Amino acid sequence: MEDILKLLNVKEFTPIQKIAIDLVLKDKNVLAVAPTASGKTLIGELAMLKAISKGKRAIYVSPLRALTSEKYEDFKRFGIKNIGISTGDLTQDDAYLKYKEVVFLSIEKLDSLLRKSVDILENLGAIVFDEVHLINDEERGPTLEFLIALINYLYPKAQKIYLSATIGNPEDLSNWLKAELAYSDFRPVKLIKKIALYDRLIFEDTEEEILDIGDQILNVVNYLVSNRKQFILFSPTRNLAESYAEKISILVNRWAKENQNELISLSEKLFSALDIPTKSFEKLAKVVRNGVAFHHAGLLNEQRKLIEEKFKEGLIKAIAATPTLAMGVNLPANTVVISSIYRRGYFSTSLLPVYEVEQMAGRAGRPKYDKEGTVIFISRNERDTEIIKNTYLNPELEPIKSKFSNEKNIRVYTLALISMNLANNQKEIEEFFSKLYSELNKFQISQAIEFLKRYSFIIGENKLSATPFGKLVSELYIDPITAIKYKYYLSQMSEDEFSYLHALMCASEVPLQITPKWIEKIEEEIEYLHLDLNQQIFDFYIDDESYYNAIYLAHVLYDWINEKSEAEIEEVYGIQPGILYQIVNGFANWLSYSMYRLALSMKIKSKFLREMQIRIQEGVKSELLNLVSIPQIGRVRARKLFKAGIKTKSDIKSAGIGRIKEILGPVIGENIYNYCVQNINEENNKLL
Ligand SMILES: Nc1ncnc2c1ncn2[C@@H]1O[C@H](COP(=O)(O)OP(=O)(O)OP(=O)(O)O)[C@@H](O)[C@H]1O
Ligand SMILES: [Mg+2]
Repeated sequence: MEDILKLLNVKEFTPIQKIAIDLVLKDKNVLAVAPTASGKTLIGELAMLKAISKGKRAIYVSPLRALTSEKYEDFKRFGIKNIGISTGDLTQDDAYLKYKEVVFLSIEKLDSLLRKSVDILENLGAIVFDEVHLINDEERGPTLEFLIALINYLYPKAQKIYLSATIGNPEDLSNWLKAELAYSDFRPVKLIKKIALYDRLIFEDTEEEILDIGDQILNVVNYLVSNRKQFILFSPTRNLAESYAEKISILVNRWAKENQNELISLSEKLFSALDIPTKSFEKLAKVVRNGVAFHHAGLLNEQRKLIEEKFKEGLIKAIAATPTLAMGVNLPANTVVISSIYRRGYFSTSLLPVYEVEQMAGRAGRPKYDKEGTVIFISRNERDTEIIKNTYLNPELEPIKSKFSNEKNIRVYTLALISMNLANNQKEIEEFFSKLYSELNKFQISQAIEFLKRYSFIIGENKLSATPFGKLVSELYIDPITAIKYKYYLSQMSEDEFSYLHALMCASEVPLQITPKWIEKIEEEIEYLHLDLNQQIFDFYIDDESYYNAIYLAHVLYDWINEKSEAEIEEVYGIQPGILYQIVNGFANWLSYSMYRLALSMKIKSKFLREMQIRIQEGVKSELLNLVSIPQIGRVRARKLFKAGIKTKSDIKSAGIGRIKEILGPVIGENIYNYCVQNINEENNKLL
């Protein structure tokens, strides 16, 4: 064991580490609750290393893709070769992960892998659940809760480590988890929380005067820039993050001027991340020249990464970010500014939950540079100041509550249990569900069973089993109701792109993306066209908002697969590239794959469905499908080649290297040409 502790290579353990490491070494399950940046990751890593040293396997799961990749990269420092990661694409069958010693996963990916085969976790020695407070999340909490119960059931002997900074009821949760609670409120870098009200900066009983330049946010930014404090400004929405970035850039510029040349080249790089830059890229490029960036899900991954990197290096002085930056990713700043304690919904305004504010505040203080980190709350009036003092300064975190108990979850997971052969009658299902954090009532379970029987997902009286259709739906990881809708659509399908996309988007897996402006537009459209797409939805109720949302997204996808540029899509629909890619690589890809698989199971052989799936992924018309199947050729390069009369791999070969380099540029052109030639040769050899 000494050796493993040495491997961690730490001079001195933090208080939470001291408490938890002892428990980990005693083979206990542990729930470690301690402030942000207190070093909880190491506790999980220790359990993983210990498992490996005993010839067992180790798994790390987190709810965030970026976080999972970060931990995967960090874990490589231990020099273990056989590591795997899978966080995205639910259509990919990652069965090979079974042969990896250590695997890093997102919760949805682990859940879907288990549906296909429970032995993906064979020989499990330790599993780490990071950011476990996510049980509280309306959308994704149930997945995490089910997974925890399932893994405890399947692998009672494996060591489980649960980590979180923000749990209001840790005792309660540790009881459910059957894990020892390791708790500490010590933070290596102290957090100081101040309130900014006009020209005053309030800290405990003291007040500091700051220069009033007529705007609350600018007052604070001016103060920070004058003191050369790098900061993150949290903003409630993507739009606000962008406009705050613009607003503060004049002030930050004073400080950033020193690195003008580097900033200009960074700005150019960010601007040209796509062939046709969007409006938001233009804004980004402009603010970056002044040492400011915004950071939100609308940007491309590579842009976000670059911004994070340049902030860590100190080139970017300030980031205006949405709260998604707050959870987990390691991007500390000297100061965090919380621009508003309110969240505006369509109909009402509410206070931010304490745990969310704590996650944001947790970014303050860089372990290597700062003795303390500062959080500044912007207060609009005396009343806000009181709320901030009472609610956020000495926070009392909300208790975690289960969000499992609703019809959809019970339906989905009842089918999962039967199809994985983990339960074969109502009593066994009840027994399994009793292991959840949530308390379910028996009536809901019997209703779910009835429903699944009625639509032939399962059969049997005393012994329930999944039909091939039921098994397929469980493996595809979709809601049974979605499967019924899709089957109905398939039974009377016309090969019309728009109707297909609309049917595809009428599913509970599709999140609401539509804006109030678009709801109005689509209402008009429905009236004008007398659209009655509703018939496709069969006898399941779909609320108006989801129905309009499906039409809206069908328009977006229709334009995408007909090669409208990202910039045009942002312009027309307000959907920025990062979000567009999340849609097309995420649920749209996964659902279109599911539609295709369902069709096959119904013996419908449809080239149309297969093509639509690829077109959604690639954003191209059918005529480019040949070209985009070649590595490094996406929609833009494929269109360039096509315009030059080059439509296939062999066309590329016969065009000659010079011509391809001319069209695609020297480096990429050469790569692609060589690939095609080699690939054609290999195919010919196979034929011989
Ligand atoms: N014993 C230690 N000594 C010095 N630095 C440490 C120690 N343990 C961890 N760190 C460093 O502290 C930083 C924060 O650690 P970590 O990411 O594990 O925090 P966390 O508790 O998981 O926070 P969060 O709740 O925000 O996820 C990392 O940069 C890590 O390398
Ligand atoms: Mg952490």
